[in-house]
Amino acid sequence: MRVVKTFYIETFGCQMNVHDSEKVIGTLIAQGYSQVATPEEAELVFYNTCSIRDKAEQKVFSRLQQFKKEHGRGKTFAVLGCVAQQEGEKIFAKAPHVSLVCGSASYNQLPEMLVQLETGNRRVTGLSLDTEDTFDTPLTRRDNPHRAYITIIEGCDKSCAYCVVPFTRGPERSRTSASVISEARKLASAGYSEIQLLGQNVNSYRDPSPAGWDFTTLLANVGRTPGIRRVRFTTSHPRDFVQGIIDAIDENLALCNHVHLPVQSGSTRVLEAMQRLYTRDDYMRRIDWMKKARRDIAITTDVIVGFPGETEADFEATLALLDAVEYDSIFSFKYSRRPNTPALALGDQVPEEEKGRRLTILQERQRAIQVRRNATYLGRVEECLVEGFNKATGQWIGRTSQNKTLNFIRPTADPVDNLLGTYVEVRVTRTGPNSLAGESVH
Ligand code: 5AD
Ligand code: SF4
Repeated sequence: MRVVKTFYIETFGCQMNVHDSEKVIGTLIAQGYSQVATPEEAELVFYNTCSIRDKAEQKVFSRLQQFKKEHGRGKTFAVLGCVAQQEGEKIFAKAPHVSLVCGSASYNQLPEMLVQLETGNRRVTGLSLDTEDTFDTPLTRRDNPHRAYITIIEGCDKSCAYCVVPFTRGPERSRTSASVISEARKLASAGYSEIQLLGQNVNSYRDPSPAGWDFTTLLANVGRTPGIRRVRFTTSHPRDFVQGIIDAIDENLALCNHVHLPVQSGSTRVLEAMQRLYTRDDYMRRIDWMKKARRDIAITTDVIVGFPGETEADFEATLALLDAVEYDSIFSFKYSRRPNTPALALGDQVPEEEKGRRLTILQERQRAIQVRRNATYLGRVEECLVEGFNKATGQWIGRTSQNKTLNFIRPTADPVDNLLGTYVEVRVTRTGPNSLAGESVH
């Protein structure tokens, strides 16, 4: 039997998926596999997939289609992540050249599944959601040298009517605070200065060890890790978002002054149909906490347009909410019908064309807000973590604590100076809807 030794992995979807792939890569390397840069060179091809919207799901099937001819030529295909969990064994029927289908709640069993593949099993699955475990690996292959992700909670216990996540990632499981803190310390000593805490709903974190920390306590403690200069977290759920989080940000500069708080809709009626468990007023109270904070907290959100039954008046309420909050940026989506979700049963679908119209109006409204909001940064000095260099423009690419991109030049510096990974004070000299530009301050 031939042993598979090289692998390629492509990742779709959210940061949870990106980080899962980092852990999968670590696991594969620990098993003696080596990563290659293209699917052509690889013996084992992994797609870590997303099924949040129909478009995301289609991507993986079009990728698999490209390689249909490879069937029987010694290449093995594996589908991981949310589409794997959602479609299960149906994937073997749709794409017969796939040999492994595995959802994220089963990644702990990957080493055994690899052995099964190596011994010639062409139909290996890991689809159980019945787990208490989180996926912890001693070896995680992190791509970004400065910012590291740490998963604090997996799965989701909410049941938002539009969302596949409870079905693809299973029930909530939190890691112990001790393992999170020890990972943060290790990352700091490995040279990382920024940590991003990850979970579908980080606010419902609950330490399973006797210490019993809640999210606020965990956040405050990660923020005190020596060597860690920035801590971010995503994603929050308004229902579980408490004032203590804002107080923690006010008290510790290492906690970034940015909160991503998905609203989904500005209409209480639609929020109810979405089973979001908060009203527009509940949401706005949380926005008020942030606006009253001592630090200037950037606020971002997710919005869905065209949820079943959304009227013009509901949509107007969402537009009015954008104006009231003045978000720093938003992610906006047309509602997409997903398998297994409660909203499938709802009538009164909004036509595709109308969803498109609403999305365009929403994005235009937000663009104007960002132009206005970013213009207030003119002349301000912001600390940036330098993440890259753009050769074409001669600008360094920096990121502020508020998570804004601030591209800058260094007027007097030697061009070979390497600023990557350092923190630089930058004065904002130009602003646009999506980014800021400036010059470093000496
Ligand atoms: N259709 C459109 N957007 C969705 N999202 C989640 N499910 C759907 C869906 N079925 C959006 C939500 C969520 C973000 C990650 O994706 O806004 O916050
Ligand atoms: Fe996509 Fe949600 Fe799965 Fe992330 S958790 S990959 S957003 S379906």
